[in-house]
Amino acid sequence: MKSEKGTVSAYTIDFEPVGRRGKCHKSESLLACAHYVGIGINSICGGTGVCHSCKVQVLRGNVSRPTSKELEAFTPEELAQGWRLACQTYPLTDCKLSVPPESMTTLQRIQVEGKELRVEPELPVRAYQSAFTMPSLSNPKADTDRLIEELNHKYHIHCNTIEINVLRSLSLQLRSWDWRCQVIVRDDQVIGLNPWQTPLLGLAVDLGTTKVAAYLIDMNNGRTLAAKGIMNPQISLGEDIISRITHIIKSPDKSLKIRKLIVEGINDLINSLCIEVGANPEQIFDAVVVGNTAMHHLFVGLPVRQLALSPFVPAVSRALDVKAKDLGLCIASGSYVHLLPNVAGFVGSDHVAMLLATGVWQAKGPIVAIDIGTNTEVSLIRNGKITAVSCASGPAFEGGHIKDGMRAATGAIERLRIADNKIQYQTIDKAPPIGICGSGILDTLCQLFLSGVIDAGGRIREDCSRVRNYKRQREFVLVGEEDHKKQSDITITQRDVRELQLAKAAIRTGIQVLLEANNCTENQIREVIIAGAFGTYIDVASALIIGMLPSLPLDRFRQVGNAAGMGAKLALVSSTKRAEAQSLAARIKYIELGTAPNFNQTFIQTSYLGRYRIREGKREGVD
Ligand code: FES
Repeated sequence: MKSEKGTVSAYTIDFEPVGRRGKCHKSESLLACAHYVGIGINSICGGTGVCHSCKVQVLRGNVSRPTSKELEAFTPEELAQGWRLACQTYPLTDCKLSVPPESMTTLQRIQVEGKELRVEPELPVRAYQSAFTMPSLSNPKADTDRLIEELNHKYHIHCNTIEINVLRSLSLQLRSWDWRCQVIVRDDQVIGLNPWQTPLLGLAVDLGTTKVAAYLIDMNNGRTLAAKGIMNPQISLGEDIISRITHIIKSPDKSLKIRKLIVEGINDLINSLCIEVGANPEQIFDAVVVGNTAMHHLFVGLPVRQLALSPFVPAVSRALDVKAKDLGLCIASGSYVHLLPNVAGFVGSDHVAMLLATGVWQAKGPIVAIDIGTNTEVSLIRNGKITAVSCASGPAFEGGHIKDGMRAATGAIERLRIADNKIQYQTIDKAPPIGICGSGILDTLCQLFLSGVIDAGGRIREDCSRVRNYKRQREFVLVGEEDHKKQSDITITQRDVRELQLAKAAIRTGIQVLLEANNCTENQIREVIIAGAFGTYIDVASALIIGMLPSLPLDRFRQVGNAAGMGAKLALVSSTKRAEAQSLAARIKYIELGTAPNFNQTFIQTSYLGRYRIREGKREGVD
């Protein structure tokens, strides 16, 4: 491609090992090019050069000179080897890049399974197999009237309207199907026609900040036909919800782009689910979507600015039914998407779905239900009363803001033990270690504390083996260069430990605030439910030892997987469950964490490592 002056304006970029090729304009960064061709490269900081999550290696070709951010991120040797930050680097010729697994948003383990309650299908949308009498000179009734009258008469229903797109194709379809078809009815409206005896399908989606899980459901029996997860493609515009909202506040035109990313992601999921079971997306006549309030708003196209400003108010909290085509979803044109209710700015319908799926909202309690993520929602259920808080736990437990942190992908250290001063670890897919994911990070903090390398205040002691000073900070070497093929050692730095202390203190403070608001003590908690991908894989014992969770016997903890996704599935097949979701959301009393008495004192105390309980803002050790 030549510009008017005859110079090359775009270059060809080869991405390895994914084997994708794309055109990159010289004014676009390598990160922008990767996202344009559909390659998921991490960009936790949204491309500002501070997170170092978008590392790539230039294998061939010339690129722009390293920026000051890159000079900070890499040693001269690494720069000489071609290591660069994709968000800071611009091509000067055609290039070939290597994208290491730790920079990829794909190849990631996505939690889609969860423990669920079984319910009898009680469908908001029904399919009726119908054969109609053909028109004749003695019976020349309009096609629509014929369909509605015969349908109502045969099935004793009261259908009286027909969706406009169905109406447009009805006459041709009835004749081409020889007056036999399946009529899809929602409330009192015909929303679709299908060939005779076509399976009726539904879609349930859990829209997470980091991951999106989708389930294709056979609506006749509630069975899951296929389930898949992807990384949320919006990650390219910021790892957490606040950075995405900030993007939109700074440039409002980004809101369309960010909505388009998630809609396209869900449509890709729909296609691959349907391909897996040999179905057509046009067979999907109902959908339920759950997510945190910001993801809900971004998906629907609602304003999000007010979510980031005190008092953090959602645009809408009640349940919504929106035409799928108005949202851009490629399923049957007459279908609707049901969005479960939100509770508050930072407690969304995913938390409601989790409470619905586990059934704990109806329990006597006290029960604590936690969904751990970049934003952690916690509820305490006691005698029919539900109180909830939201904790800004940040991305540390998903590998973000941790020097060698990564997502739960091939090569991530997911378990770690220290015995006799020896490090034992297990990686995902038993691959050579390239970084450390959330569950491994939690284990590491616990093991370093137990072995005395870190004190209760989180300080790394200088006089321990494997501890060194590097780039003006103390760090513990988990995996040395001699042990693996990564470019540099895998370490936990003093800064990482501080990030983890903040993350775990946020969660423990949330639990403590709920206990105090309900005049409960830790010992009274009958059960702690832990939901979400990170919560599924953590070693609860490690979480207890670092003081992230209350010091209770292990048998009081229950890890339930992706309960939000399970709740979405329940609501998809049951009108009663949709009504229950609305009623339970209305019963939740939300507490803004920062306004709780003793908040600051509790937060400081809960940042300490070890087993303890908090009383009136003071920490008491527990054996
Ligand atoms: S350093 Fe590249 S996205 Fe953050």
